Amino acid sequence: MIKDTFGRVHDYLRISLTDNCNLRCFYCMPEENYAFAPASKLMQVEEIETIAKLFVANGVKKIRLTGGEPLVRKDAPRIIESLGKLGVELAITTNGVRINEMLDELLAANIKAINISLDTLQADKFLKITRRDLYHRVRSNIELLLQHGIRVKINVVVMKGLNENEILDFIALTQHNTIEVRFIEFMPFSGNNWTSNQVFTLQEILLKVASKYDVLPVQPEPNDTSKKYMIPGHVGSFAVISTMSSPFCETCNRMRLTADGKLKNCLFSKEETDLLGALRAGQEILPLIEDTIMAKAKALGGQFSGVFEDIDASKLKNRSMITIGG
Ligand code: GTP
Ligand code: 5AD
Ligand code: SF4
Repeated sequence: MIKDTFGRVHDYLRISLTDNCNLRCFYCMPEENYAFAPASKLMQVEEIETIAKLFVANGVKKIRLTGGEPLVRKDAPRIIESLGKLGVELAITTNGVRINEMLDELLAANIKAINISLDTLQADKFLKITRRDLYHRVRSNIELLLQHGIRVKINVVVMKGLNENEILDFIALTQHNTIEVRFIEFMPFSGNNWTSNQVFTLQEILLKVASKYDVLPVQPEPNDTSKKYMIPGHVGSFAVISTMSSPFCETCNRMRLTADGKLKNCLFSKEETDLLGALRAGQEILPLIEDTIMAKAKALGGQFSGVFEDIDASKLKNRSMITIGG
């Protein structure tokens, strides 16, 4: 069992497969000509398997594949197939662009749940945010997943002045579709020009939804990243990931492995441990994992408090989101 000094058991591993992506969301990657990591620096399939097996042997019960965009990696099907055999819950967070090409592999690996990032329901705004004209493809891929009985959550990063005026449109989607829409407060990462006045908070989101619907809170699952709600008469539900206004670090169970094999004990940790380098040098990596988690701060990587209005984003030390995977 991997525990930290606050007694939090860490049984959820997020593995980034690549920092490459087929979209160019302005808030996620620093610039259009961003240099992706060369293949030699990325974990190879066998290395991912070795590291994942070690985590599972030490209590990990859930693995989520992230990116960049995990499904742009050519050997993603092999990785999915292999990790699908580890006997733990396997999940993916994807932008949804390649779902139609990989559906068979996803079904064969017994994937039950997929989180899709989609910040707008307007094709022209999708192009503005992602710099790629693929809105309709993502929408039809969401349909495809639902038809195959895969649970779908839609991740919506809400940014003031950009898409908070679509919150009720996203809620409308949950009336007849068994989708969970998750509104995410905009978070600061290296190169994303975050400012506190772009954050649309949990409270503001709830007020907006309550302006049209009855909103009922749902009992949270242990270790959930989101606060969940339902609306009477809707088959789907909605939730809010409130990192900025109401962090949920007390029940954190998450560890992150970057595509270049570095272990982060928090989304906002400054420090990283080079597991891949150690593995390639023939060192034992379990003690490194345990030490990294023991060094975990109580909240938010120790870099800021929940008073998000006071954050000076230029002082935070971290990677860009595209290299962490969320
Ligand atoms: P489920 O397993 O379906 O609950 O998904 P998840 O929320 O664990 O993962 P997902 O990749 O869908 O992430 C959704 C949003 O939650 C992203 O913006 C992530 O950055 C954020 N998120 C995920 N894990 C954490 C975390 O440990 N801390 C914080 N602050 N945010 C997180
Ligand atoms: N703040 C909040 N969420 C973000 N994501 C990417 N960048 C940010 C940010 N700055 C979300 C993506 C994806 C998930 C992994 O993280 O939309 O759904
Ligand atoms: Fe865990 Fe860090 Fe996220 Fe808090 S911010 S929930 S400590 S990963």
